[in-house]
Amino acid sequence: MVETVNQSLVWDIMHVAESAAIAAAKLRGRGDEMAADKAAVDAMRTAMNKLDIDGRVVIGEGERDEAPMLFIGEEIGTKSGPKVDIAVDPLEGTTLCAKSLPNALAVLALAPQGSLLHAPDIYMEKIAIGPGFAPGLVDLDKTPTENLTSLAEAKGVAVSDLTALVLDRSRHAKLIGELREAGAAVKLIGDGDIAGVIQTTDAQETGIDIYMGIGGAPEGVLAAAALSCIGGQMQGRLHPMQDAHVERAKKVGIDDLSKKYSIEDMVKGDVVFAATGVTSGSMVDGVRLDQDIIETETLIMHAGPKTVRWIRSQRQTNGVG
Ligand code: FBP
Repeated sequence: MVETVNQSLVWDIMHVAESAAIAAAKLRGRGDEMAADKAAVDAMRTAMNKLDIDGRVVIGEGERDEAPMLFIGEEIGTKSGPKVDIAVDPLEGTTLCAKSLPNALAVLALAPQGSLLHAPDIYMEKIAIGPGFAPGLVDLDKTPTENLTSLAEAKGVAVSDLTALVLDRSRHAKLIGELREAGAAVKLIGDGDIAGVIQTTDAQETGIDIYMGIGGAPEGVLAAAALSCIGGQMQGRLHPMQDAHVERAKKVGIDDLSKKYSIEDMVKGDVVFAATGVTSGSMVDGVRLDQDIIETETLIMHAGPKTVRWIRSQRQTNGVG
């Protein structure tokens, strides 16, 4: 029998994401990435430990010795509920939050135990497009020009009508050059490729047709969790940059670093994905901190019933928020 995530957990997960976002939001624009990240991690962990789950962090803040909390392998919850895998990015876009720039998010995904790829904390090469295309239309083994051409043909437009989203990093200079040479527009983002990948799922609204480039592997699995709820295609391939990265992959049982992961390889079955805005961005508004009210917006998706909801929540604080 295929295991599913209980609906009541969906709301619990939303509350967890909200708690982390509110904690980080209090440190927006203070220039202190570490403090904002720690606040989000502490709040997420406290909220998650109240849940009736027998959870294990499979995508977390790093190894036990380098991350005091929410480290990979950490056990979470009261242990009196279902066995689940948890992937967390308590503050996706630490720099965005520290500089009060758009698209900082508190993100997590929860799935039945054994469903989520245990991705090491290294880089991953990624490509993603929206839903409604033939499987395998784009592929990490094709050149950027080939991928753009296939996508343009499938959309019935010219390559010059396409916009690719890429993280603004020097490692992407060649990729960006080739995309522009082929005629596509390139939108560069400073950080935040979970939101970047999700933007491809509604190209009409976001103007983003394809996401390409190298970002974090944990963020890759979280983006795959989102796409398995909302639709779209994605491939990821681990991209170690140093020997230590190869070792990290081995530690989580991955020897074949050339493997291309589909969404189904990264997320096997049901999953719930939640992202609460810390700062306002392409998907959700950021936290509004007023004297008496804290308002949050969360994108919460559930793969099983294919539900996608944007929930605005208000908490009365009576001046003590
Ligand atoms: P942090 O929240 O850890 O700062 O990650 C932000 C991010 O931009 C991710 O969205 C992306 O996957 C990764 O960093 C890219 O890593 P790098 O900044 O090393 O290029």
